[in-house]
Amino acid sequence: MSSDKKLFIQTLGCQMNDTDSQHIAAELEKHKDYTQTDTMEDADLIIINTCSVREKPVQKLFSEIGQFNKKKKDGAKIGVCGCTASHLGKDIIKRAPYVDFVVGARNISKIKDVIDVKGSVEISIDNDESMYEFGPAKTNKYRASVNISVGCDKKCTYCIVPNTRGEEISIPPEMIVTQVQKAVDEGAVEIMLLGQNVNSYGRRFSDKRPKHSFTKLLQDISKIENLKRIRFTSPHPLHMDDEFIEEFAKNEKISRCIHMPLQSGSTEILRAMKRGYTKEWFLNRANKMRELVPDLRITTDIIVAFPGETEEDYQDTLDVVRQVKFDQVFNFKYSPRPETPALDLKDKEIPDAIGSERLTGLIELHKRHLEATMPSHVGTTVNILVESLKPNGEVTGYTDNYLQVFAKGSDELLGKFVDVKIVSATRTALKGEVLI
Ligand code: 5AD
Ligand code: SF4
Repeated sequence: MSSDKKLFIQTLGCQMNDTDSQHIAAELEKHKDYTQTDTMEDADLIIINTCSVREKPVQKLFSEIGQFNKKKKDGAKIGVCGCTASHLGKDIIKRAPYVDFVVGARNISKIKDVIDVKGSVEISIDNDESMYEFGPAKTNKYRASVNISVGCDKKCTYCIVPNTRGEEISIPPEMIVTQVQKAVDEGAVEIMLLGQNVNSYGRRFSDKRPKHSFTKLLQDISKIENLKRIRFTSPHPLHMDDEFIEEFAKNEKISRCIHMPLQSGSTEILRAMKRGYTKEWFLNRANKMRELVPDLRITTDIIVAFPGETEEDYQDTLDVVRQVKFDQVFNFKYSPRPETPALDLKDKEIPDAIGSERLTGLIELHKRHLEATMPSHVGTTVNILVESLKPNGEVTGYTDNYLQVFAKGSDELLGKFVDVKIVSATRTALKGEVLI
């Protein structure tokens, strides 16, 4: 039954937030009869699902909800969810009294109850079983995401996540397999497994069951018939043991693209960040991956200007970037976050101008790498899963190693794996012609 109640959700931040937003929409559709709209002005309920990993998205939250409040329909409610909701809690309502409710990143299962209670604030980070009783979230018809764990047990000194998403609990493997199966039954051919730290999977469950491992989980999931591609994010370089790398190399369903968050190339800084590995360990793991997996693409996250970072430390980071030849780099300038241990290093903070310079240097280095390597795809033939058709008559999809490709096509290609002959390349994507 369709209803007149409209929901608008704005999502900031990571893929966990995207999935949480999809769960919020599904819960409100199922229990409260809302349908989603892309037009904020039409909505009866406006939700902003936030990120607090860096300060910028937090500032953006307040400017955004201020705008929403001015432009919203009369009587429309505004709610704030996600990580910033967890760490600021009722202060959000103090600062923006027109906000109707606040729901933390670990409490989204409560969404259907709080939307009707003006002023409610749900931000506990204790374990909440209902947290993972959601179905798979759909990015599109062919790709679904499934959470495999919640929270994070690492204590990276710059990171606010352990405060906002709580301790790490793994979701039982049979529940994950059931969810993946369900998504596949509904037409998904690609699955994205999500967790803050996926390859520490299986150390703690909410019941007293024995430990499991991420490698074993990958093996369980890859047995599902008609599932063609498995992706996951984020693995931690520290837990990339040989067993995992060997499974990655030999399991044909695993997409040949891996996110390896470096954060810094300096062993000294990695120690100050409490990342648990050295520059050499990271290089060793990346080299082993490249050796065993042909055509592997490696993506990464890097923070520059962490407190105490010297020019030499920064050069170590650039050195790793040169050696590993990352295919995509998400760059960040260190941003001090509330209640994180790195705040104790305040006297070692790097002047903002130097931080910006280092960020630009890193971006430039990587840009040159992409400009030198992306054209080498021209003339090759790649295989893509076609995911969508754009209004201009182009279809788009991704190769197995997760490079985006555009080509002229039609809706008959949707959901199919097709060969594409590449005719041009930009720094981030390829363009080609579908071979029939
Ligand atoms: N400052 C800058 N970047 C950060 N990240 C996490 N916390 C901070 C911070 N305080 C980055 C890390 C992480 C990514 C999701 O965000 O690189 O991998
Ligand atoms: Fe934050 Fe580190 Fe956990 Fe990633 S592994 S969420 S950076 S504490």
